[in-house]
Order: sequence, then structure tokens, then C-alpha cells
Amino acid sequence: MGFSPPSLSQSLSFILFLFHFHSTISSSHFCALHQSLSLLQFKESFSINSSASIRCQHPKTESWKEGTDCCLWDGVTCDMKTGHVTGLDLACSMLYGTLHSNSTLFSLHHLQKLDLSDNDFNSSHISSRFGQFSNLTLLNLNFSVFAGQVPSEISHLSKLVSLDLSDNGYLSLEPISFDKLVRNLTKLRELDLSSVNMSLLVPDSMMNLSSSLSSLKLNDCGLQGKLPSSMGRFKHLQYLDLSENFYLSLEPISFDKLVQNLTKLRDLALDRVNMSLVAPNSLTNLSSSFSSLSLWNCGLQGKFPGNIFLLPNLESLYLSYNEGLTGSFPSSNLSNVLSTLSLSNTRISVYLKNDLISNLKSLEYMYLSNCNIISSDLALLGNLTQLIFLDISGNNFSGQIPSSLGNLVHLRSLYLDSNKFMGQIPDSFGSLVHLSDLYLSNNQLVGPIHFQLNTLSNLQYLYLSNNLFNGTIPSFLLALPSLQYLDLHNNNLIGNISELQHNSLTYLDLSNNHLHGPIPSSIFKQENLTTLILASNSKLTGEISSSICKLRFLLVLDLSNNSLSGSTPQCLGNFSSMLSVLHLGMNNLQGTIPSTFSKDNILEYLNLNGNELEGKIPPSIINCTMLEVLDLGNNKIEDTFPYFLETLPELQILILKSNKLQGFVKGPTAYNSFFKLRIFDISDNNFSGPLPTGYFNSLEAMMASDQNMIYMRTTNYTGYVYSIEMTWKGVEIEFTKIRSTIRVLDLSNNNFTGEISKVIGKLKALQQLNLSHNSLTGHIQSSLENLTNLESLDLSSNLLTGRIPTQLGGLTFLAILNLSHNQLEGRIPSGGQFNTFTASSFEGNLGLCGFQVLKECYGDEAPSLPPSSFDEGDDSTLFGEGFGWKAVTVGYGCGFVFGVATGYVVFRTKKPSWFLRMVEDKWNLQSKKTKKNAGRYGARRN
Ligand SMILES: *[C@@H]1O[C@H](CO)[C@@H](O)[C@H](O)[C@H]1NC(C)=O
Ligand SMILES: *[C@@H]1O[C@H](CO)[C@@H](O)[C@H](O)[C@H]1NC(C)=O
Ligand SMILES: *[C@@H]1O[C@H](CO)[C@@H](O)[C@H](O)[C@H]1NC(C)=O
Ligand SMILES: *[C@@H]1O[C@H](CO)[C@@H](O)[C@H](O)[C@H]1NC(C)=O
Ligand SMILES: *[C@@H]1O[C@H](CO)[C@@H](O)[C@H](O)[C@H]1NC(C)=O
Repeated sequence: MGFSPPSLSQSLSFILFLFHFHSTISSSHFCALHQSLSLLQFKESFSINSSASIRCQHPKTESWKEGTDCCLWDGVTCDMKTGHVTGLDLACSMLYGTLHSNSTLFSLHHLQKLDLSDNDFNSSHISSRFGQFSNLTLLNLNFSVFAGQVPSEISHLSKLVSLDLSDNGYLSLEPISFDKLVRNLTKLRELDLSSVNMSLLVPDSMMNLSSSLSSLKLNDCGLQGKLPSSMGRFKHLQYLDLSENFYLSLEPISFDKLVQNLTKLRDLALDRVNMSLVAPNSLTNLSSSFSSLSLWNCGLQGKFPGNIFLLPNLESLYLSYNEGLTGSFPSSNLSNVLSTLSLSNTRISVYLKNDLISNLKSLEYMYLSNCNIISSDLALLGNLTQLIFLDISGNNFSGQIPSSLGNLVHLRSLYLDSNKFMGQIPDSFGSLVHLSDLYLSNNQLVGPIHFQLNTLSNLQYLYLSNNLFNGTIPSFLLALPSLQYLDLHNNNLIGNISELQHNSLTYLDLSNNHLHGPIPSSIFKQENLTTLILASNSKLTGEISSSICKLRFLLVLDLSNNSLSGSTPQCLGNFSSMLSVLHLGMNNLQGTIPSTFSKDNILEYLNLNGNELEGKIPPSIINCTMLEVLDLGNNKIEDTFPYFLETLPELQILILKSNKLQGFVKGPTAYNSFFKLRIFDISDNNFSGPLPTGYFNSLEAMMASDQNMIYMRTTNYTGYVYSIEMTWKGVEIEFTKIRSTIRVLDLSNNNFTGEISKVIGKLKALQQLNLSHNSLTGHIQSSLENLTNLESLDLSSNLLTGRIPTQLGGLTFLAILNLSHNQLEGRIPSGGQFNTFTASSFEGNLGLCGFQVLKECYGDEAPSLPPSSFDEGDDSTLFGEGFGWKAVTVGYGCGFVFGVATGYVVFRTKKPSWFLRMVEDKWNLQSKKTKKNAGRYGARRN
């Protein structure tokens, strides 16, 4: 007895039957009424958010109409036999509103696939009722603004094959829920919990996940500790993404096992996971099916195995920001599907030659900034015509920008900044009509800003700062329809700024040019402006109109270093709840300081230095609880010491110098007074009475040095770098950058009396201490020997008596010592640091003797010869490379610490090397200036 296959006619009639069945059910409202009602009520509970993302423009629920068969609605799938709704796909449907746990969605018990991704559920909690969909195999809540705890009931969904809760921002998952989930969801093949906070989880608990997983994505989950060594058990894994868990680390052995056992892996991303112990060589074993390897900023060190570059199916390779990675990039036999190559900030050499170029024809994303490119002809890049993203910034390229880059007509982002390109922007750039980001900053480009750019109608970001562009700002630039970010700072642009007209800018920086005229009133109409920097044009005139307070979204307002006059609008204290930087320093502003600082403001930096402001320091500054820098120096403020500032919890820099402040400074009136202060400068006022010794006990930040050197800047994304005016080693300098390590106490030029308490020795981290030009008496405390970071000590022009403590010779960083014009006596100690000081440090103390003052000490041996002069050889280390440096007025006034003659000579003949270091340092840092990394990082994912 044999089995006979169905005849052709039998098959045909079966198909006809199916067809008939289907058409009958559709015409007879196959969908049960209660399901239609549930779906319609679900629809009604949300609005359609038409301002949602540009990607999602199709609200599927719009096709849902009462009286029609719900099984035919967009996004709805039914079981053909039972009529149950088994699938709901509302991805990208512009839904907006809260998904409550009484939602009728939860009456659709038969759902097997549910996709609500890419909507806006307005921080709804994920209801525990999701756990009731017992037959669910797919649940996708990606990128749809859910928040709160992931309910442990998700673990009831034991049939789930695919679970995606990623990219919601504020979801978290407790270890106990995760454990339940991984034990019960044994059928899982795809799990994506990226950006769900799982920081309490022990990484080992991942080992209980289903071994049939083919895709595991736990990007940015806050995982910490060591990656389990037995990841190798997930033999079916094809995709593994553990990126952005920067407290996670990989041991060499775990990585070896992972690479050796995961033979199906084709996509591995471990960006920012600590792999500093893993030898790059262990990557040698990656299988030939690999298509994407992403090890961005993993701390990899050593030679990168060349054969990885040759994997035949490789599409993307991200190795950027592994500064210790060496090796060389091959120029032939490359994968012909390679579309992304990211080697920025590595030391892998790339020989940009014909054969390489012909091997990279399908490249779309090329990240080669700060890297080791060896090229004789950059014009070759013009052959990579598929490029969408090209970054060769920070590479010291010189000469003209090759006009062949104009062939790259698909380019959306072009970064050529921080090179040494000269000449003009090539005409051919007019063809780059898709360009949205153009970075040409930090080069030596000249000429007027090129008219050819007027065709770039998609341009959003234009950075031309730090070049030699001249002429006026062309009007077409501000008419570019998409332009949002315009940075022209530090060029030679001229013209009347008041003629500027522009559209919808959010960022405008025109500082450091030669523009003149009043602030254009058109600026006040830019309602979306977040950053306005017009600093250092020197010739901007007129008043600051109170219309500026219409810019309600400003984060940064910097109009410093101009000639603005008139009174300061009072509304500046409370016009934008987002303002973090207000810099109006170095103008001619009059009137009083705004007294309108309101509660909950987030101001971090307030600088009004160098104006003609009068009146008192307004108590409403106490509302600026985020304030880190307050600089009111060089004004005409008449007040007593503002004790109320003591409690500003973030205050790090307080400069009140050169005002008309007077009275006693008693010391702390609150707990934790000024405990974060790094710079405290109340010099050149009329303060009197004893030194505020009480503060010496509370200035905690001055007691401990800061190991972690960063430049002080806003905590928000603008990253605005703080600057201040200060006397540094006797010279009035505008510091365009401030190291977080700086510690300065300047009480000079007041009428302080009495002794210097030995408590001063507590301020161990001080680099500069200036108590000069007061009426201090008593001895120099030997406890000053504790200030081992001191680079400059000025106690001159006081009434100090007694001997100079020999202990000061142990202050090995001390480059400047000024004890002149006191009543000190006895032998000037020699040895140690004392050998580096000249007469000017000691003059005007009639009782001192020693070789430095060419006065023999009675009964002593003859003085040895004085050291030739101020030793410039190694002062760079003594001073510590300093600060950004911009403009200098050599101040011979108050805090001047060189003897006048010496100082004059030093500056006349040549700038001291610490000065040059400052300049250099500034340029170095500017070239390393990070761009909006987020943007770049995002772009590479597209
Ligand atoms: C569901 O619950 C929310 C909040 O608890 C409530 O505002 C809403 O009216 C309820 N909806 C229905 C249909 O009961
Ligand atoms: C779940 O699936 C099983 C097996 O396919 C079926 O018997 C059961 O009725 C389904 N349950 C629901 C609520 O749809
Ligand atoms: C596991 O899933 C079953 C349903 O399949 C459920 O009854 C049980 O409660 C779940 N266990 C946990 C720990 O969630
Ligand atoms: C992975 O491979 C190594 C050999 O490289 C082996 O010792 C280990 O047992 C394998 N299995 C797992 C689960 O890591
Ligand atoms: C680059 O393009 C030029 C002009 O189209 C062509 O002559 C040259 O052969 C190309 N070079 C490579 C390496 O593709």
C-alpha cells in the first residue's frame, strides 16, 4: 500500500477553497465586534502627534473606522480560522499619550505579535498587564517613551522569541525581575534592552539567558564589573552589542573564549567597554563571516592584526579612539563591501595611494581624524564618490583644499578642520548640495567667504572659525535656508554687524573679528537662539537693548570685550530659564548689577568684570545655586563683604577685585563656607581688620589638589569654556581657559592688619598666594612650607618682621617670591629654591643680609656670586604649562611680583617661556577641540 501524492486538481481545488474562504470572511466582518471596539477605544485614547519625527509620517490607526472589518485595518493581523486579532503592528504611528493599565489593548488576549515601537507614550509605565499576553512571541516597545520599572510580569511571557524594550531612556530593570525573565523566557532568540538601566545587575546573571539567543543587545545598560568568561556558551549569537557600558571590562581570557566559541558572530560592538588588557591579536580568530566590528574607545593597545581588515564580508570597522593602537592598513585585498572605516585617534598608518583608493570604492563613511595618514596626493579622496561622511580633521594637511572633493556629491558631512589648509574654499564645493555639516575651522583659509557656498541649501552646521577669512559676512550665508549653526569666530571679518539679517539660527558665534556697530535688532527675533557670542570685536557699540530678553531659550550670552555702554537691562537676571552663561565683561556698562535672579535659575557662569557698575552686590545672586564662576572685578561696587555667597554650593571662582568694597571680612558665617572655591580674589579693595583666618579653615578645595586636569566649562552640552581676568604672577591676563587644578588666594592691596595665622599652612594646594600691600605684622609663618604646590608667593609691602624661614627653600615649584618692602632681618637663607631668587625678591628690608642683596652678613663668610638671572631654562616645568592666553596688559600695579626693573627687562627683551607655553597650549587645545561628538557618533550609526 503506497502513499499517493495529491493530484494537481486536488491541489487546485484546495487553493480555490482557501481563496473562497478568505473572500467570504472579509465581506462578512470576520472581526468580532468586541475586538473592533477594543481597538477603536485604544485608538481614541491617543492623539496623533503630527510634530513627531520626520521618519514617522503615517498614522496607521487612521484607517481604523467603525463598521469595517478590523482584520483589514492597517497594522492589524487576525487568525484566519478563529478571527482573533493575533498581531498589532503600530510601529512609527505617531501615537501620543499615556498607555494606562485599564487600556482596552489588554483585552486582546490572543495577541502573538505586538509592536508599539517609535511612538510617544509620554513616560507611561509598562503595565504589568503586558504579562497577560500569554501567547506573545514578539514584543517591541523600542523608542516609545516608556519609563519606570520594567514589571517582573514580563517574565510570564514564556513564548517570547523577540523582546525589545530598548531606547526608552528612563526604564530600569531590577536584578530580581531580570533573573525571572531570563529563566522563563527560554525561547528567546532576540533580546534588546539597550538603555534600560540595569546597573544593579551582576553581569554573571546574563549566563542564565537562553542559549539559543541569536541577538543580544545591552547597549548603555550601566553594566559594571567583568564580562563573564563563559559568554562562549551563546553559540548561536550573531549579534552582540554591549557598547557604552563603560564600567564593564573584559579579561583577555574571556575575550579569547568569546571569539573562539562564537563562530556565528558577525556583528560585535563593545564600544567604550574597557578592553585595555586584551591583546588586539586575539581578534585574529574572528570568523570570515564577520560583517561589523565596533571597538570604539576600548583602550586597546598594541598592534592591530592586519588580517581583520581583510575579512571578506566586512562592512564596517570602528576602531577610533584607541590611542594606543598601531599597525598599518593594507591597501589591497580589502573587502569590496566595506562601507565604514573609522580609525580616528589611532596610530594605525594609512597610505593614501592609488591602489588603496581603488580598493575602497564602496566606502560611505570615512573617519580618519587625528590619525596617521600618509599621503602625497589628497586629491585622490575625490575618487571615493560614494562617500557620505568624510572626516580628515586634525591631520596637519597643508596646501590648498583639493577641488576634487567637489566630486563627492553624496557628502552630508565634511570635516577638514584643524589642518593647515591654505588658500580659498574651492569653487567645486558648490556641488555638494546634500552637505549638512561643513567644518573648516582651525586652518589658514583666506579671502572672503566664498559665494559658491550659496547653493548649499541643506547646510545646517557651518564652522569657519580660526581662519583668516576677511571681508564682510556675505548676506547669502545668512539666507541659507537650513542654516542653524554658524561659527565665524576668530577671523578678520569686517563690516557693520547691525546689517545682519538671518533666518532661524540656533547658534551664532562672531567673536574675535573686527565687526562694528550696534547689536542688530534682527537678532532679537531669532526665537530659537541658544547661543549668542559676539565677544571681542572691540568695536561693538551702543546699548544692550532689553529686547535681548526675548531670547527665552538662550543658554549662552557672551557680549564681552566690546564697547557696549548704557545700563545693563535688569531683565537679564531672569529672561531665560536655561541661561547658563552670562558674560558681559570688559565693556563700558553702567548702572547696577541686575537684581532679578530668580529661583531655579541654572546660571553657572556670571562675568561682569571690567565695567563701571555701581551699587551693591544683589542678594538675589543667592538664587544662582549652580553658579561656579562669579567675576565682578574691576567695577565700582560699593558694599561690604557679601557673606551670603558663602553658601553657593558650586562656587569655585570668586573675583571681586578692584572695587570699593570695605569693612571687616570676619570669616565663615555658615557651614561649608566656600568649600569648593579654587580662586578667591578680593584684592584691591578697602577691606580692613584681621585676615579672614576663619576661611582658611573652610576653603576645602584649596587644601587638596585636583589630580584630574580638565578645563572648566559649563556642565551642559554647550561646553562653553570659562574665561576670567586675573593677575597671574604679576601680569594681568585674560585666561581664555581655566584649569580645574588652579588654586589662588589673593587678598592683596587692602588694609588687612595683624599677623598671618599659621592656619594658612592648611591650604596645601595653593599655587598662588598674594597678601602683599597690606599692613600685616609679625613673622612669616614657617607653616608656609606645607604649601608645596606654591608657584608664586607675594608678601611684599607689609610690616613683617623677623627672619625668613629657611623652610621656604623646600618649595620646589616656587618660581616667584616677593618679600620686598617689609622689616625682615637676618641672613637670607640659601640653598634649595632660594638660589633662584634675585635681589628684587628681598629689597627694601634694611635688616636683611646675604649675597642676594649684596650685603655681607656680619661675621659670616663672603657672599657667593648671585645666580645670573631668572632661569628661563626649566621654568616651563616650574610654572606648569598654564592657560589659554589672549590679551595682556602688563600690570605693574598691585600684585606685581617681579622687581620692577627685572620684570621690565624680562618682558622687553623676550617673553618668558611660560608666556609662550600659554600661547602654545591654547592652540594645541583648540586643535583638539572636540566637536559635537554625539553628532558624529550618531551619524556613524545611520
Ligand atoms: C483609565 O485610567 C486612567 C487613569 O487611572 C483614567 O484617567 C481613565 O479615565 C481610565 N480610562 C478608562 C477607559 O477607564
Ligand atoms: C495560545 O496558543 C495555544 C496553542 O496555540 C492555544 O491553544 C490557546 O488558545 C492560545 N491562547 C490564547 C489566549 O490565544
Ligand atoms: C513562567 O511562565 C509561566 C507561564 O508560561 C508562568 O505561569 C510562571 O509564573 C512564570 N514564572 C515566572 C517566574 O515568571
Ligand atoms: C570555549 O572555547 C574554549 C577553548 O578556546 C574552551 O575551553 C571552552 O570550554 C569553550 N566553551 C565556553 C562555553 O566558553
Ligand atoms: C581617480 O579619478 C581620476 C579622474 O576621474 C582618474 O583619472 C584616476 O584614475 C582615478 N584614480 C583611481 C585610483 O581610481
